[in-house]
Amino acid sequence: MENQEPNHVRRVRYKGTHPKAFREKYKELQPELYADDVAKVMDQGRTPAGMHRSICVDEILEILKVKPGEIGLDATLGYGGHSHEILKLLQPGGRLYAIDVDPFELPRTQERLQTLGYGPDVLVIQKLNFSNIDRLVVETGPLHFVLADLGVSSMQIDNPERGFSFKVEGPLDLRLNPKSGNPASALLKTISQGRLEEILVENADEPYFEPIANAIKTHLSKGRVIETTTQLQKIITDALEFLPKANRKEDIKKSCQRCFQALRIAVNDEFGALDKFLEKLPEALTAGGRVAILSFHSGEDRRVKKSFQRFFREGVYSEVAPDPIRPSVQECNTNPRARSAKLRWAVKA
Ligand SMILES: C[S@@+](CC[C@H](N)C(=O)[O-])C[C@H]1O[C@@H](n2cnc3c(N)ncnc32)[C@H](O)[C@@H]1O
Repeated sequence: MENQEPNHVRRVRYKGTHPKAFREKYKELQPELYADDVAKVMDQGRTPAGMHRSICVDEILEILKVKPGEIGLDATLGYGGHSHEILKLLQPGGRLYAIDVDPFELPRTQERLQTLGYGPDVLVIQKLNFSNIDRLVVETGPLHFVLADLGVSSMQIDNPERGFSFKVEGPLDLRLNPKSGNPASALLKTISQGRLEEILVENADEPYFEPIANAIKTHLSKGRVIETTTQLQKIITDALEFLPKANRKEDIKKSCQRCFQALRIAVNDEFGALDKFLEKLPEALTAGGRVAILSFHSGEDRRVKKSFQRFFREGVYSEVAPDPIRPSVQECNTNPRARSAKLRWAVKA
């Protein structure tokens, strides 16, 4: 038995010439093995499944001014694209700490970066919420630079099992760490209509918060369920049937995007985590330490801007970004997910 060959597992067969379902995308799910296919998908302005295209890389590197021998933190490791570029600049003698809350993508990224030659002597990866940056700093000492690229990665959005996208059927989950807390489907059951309306406005500026919250709570009060992404998408679509026909399809799509964003932020307490992180940041940095934060909607950007400006007025930061930096037109054309990005920076006094 000991020398028995492992059974060969055939890949899933798909109909036609191109795989449509996520689990069939065998090439793109192992991007490092299929460089030509990945390049083709990216040339078409798309992000290959199982991969994330890092945003504003040059702009971030210019802000962070990473030097050999420094100690820094990537507070949102994701696919590790930013980390990889930073690691190239840190040697000899430097060390990058990198954290993320996602228990599924984190080990994959760790393995990928390890294969590229970045072992635990130069790259220390931990599953940690950036709201606990103070706990990490006890171990690392003051940091020369910190990067946070907020929100979700393309791997998370594209995986239907995670429930981040209304475009594909999946459980209505939306947790960055599905091993902790409650999914969005559970939140919808317990939340009051008034609080749901508040969440839709506060987290995503949803203009049709009233009919949408009303439709969701009415649906549930009749004993029906909302357990999947497409069930919620249908309820939102039906609730907005009154919109003018000319732009209805596009308007409903935007409302779906905003509602899923609002629920994601609520389920993961993203604003709570960001507020704690921003408050603890100055203590985590050395004098002259640099921080760059990439945000993707007004709720995030407002918080980053206010915190940076307050600490600047108090003399805690010596310099802060006067205005947000936006990705270039060229980057937005080749990676549409960059379009809403805003980058802010600060330097510790
Ligand atoms: C936009 S992606 C980062 C992509 C990464 N910069 C790259 O180049 O591949 C954001 C990541 O932050 C993680 N994240 C979100 N909130 C977090 C938090 N409070 N603490 C730690 N990680 C968090 C998400 O799980 C996700 O993997």
